[in-house]
Amino acid sequence: MLAEIKEILIEQERLQQRVQELGAEISRDYRGKELHLICVLKGAVLFLADLSRNMTIPVSFDFMAVSSYGASTETSGVVRILKDLEQSIEGKDVLIVEDIIDSGLTLHYLYKNLYSRKPVSLEICTLLDKPERRAVDVPVKYCGFSIPDRFVVGYGLDYAEKFRNLPYIGVLKDEVFR
Ligand code: IMP
Ligand code: MG
Repeated sequence: MLAEIKEILIEQERLQQRVQELGAEISRDYRGKELHLICVLKGAVLFLADLSRNMTIPVSFDFMAVSSYGASTETSGVVRILKDLEQSIEGKDVLIVEDIIDSGLTLHYLYKNLYSRKPVSLEICTLLDKPERRAVDVPVKYCGFSIPDRFVVGYGLDYAEKFRNLPYIGVLKDEVFR
């Protein structure tokens, strides 16, 4: 285990097992359809890669980057689009793939924004959810794990752009934040 990690919250094996289950569940739900996956950069990249490899339906990818102003471990609710989609989503079955829902403010904004572009359907799949922290309601269809209110890193999630490559979800030691 990396020196900066205090505790592993979700081991690699459990993570992969759950991602497999989600891929199978989504494939069943969209059987006979094509699914357009929208990955929220950068945190959801690893999840998208593994989740989509566990899907048995035809899929396409597009990417969006958003940023929220505020302190580094908390979001302010003001969302800015840094990179927009390359393709139109009008008439498509769309699934937003996100790493984590915390206050819900980012996804609340994103969901409304994408909904206005007239997809046939629009759902949300998040790897992690911190329900205790929710400030606005977000319609989450698929969720990997509900976790307690702790700042986590790994499997795409970062602290100051580091730790995204860890194959597990971990909690940082307190001194890392100082
Ligand atoms: P929300 O708008 O508060 O739901 O924040 C969502 C975004 O904040 C996520 O997409 C992450 O980029 C970031 N975030 C929230 N909690 C964590 C965490 O525990 N670790 C790393 N990033 C987090
Ligand atoms: Mg994110």
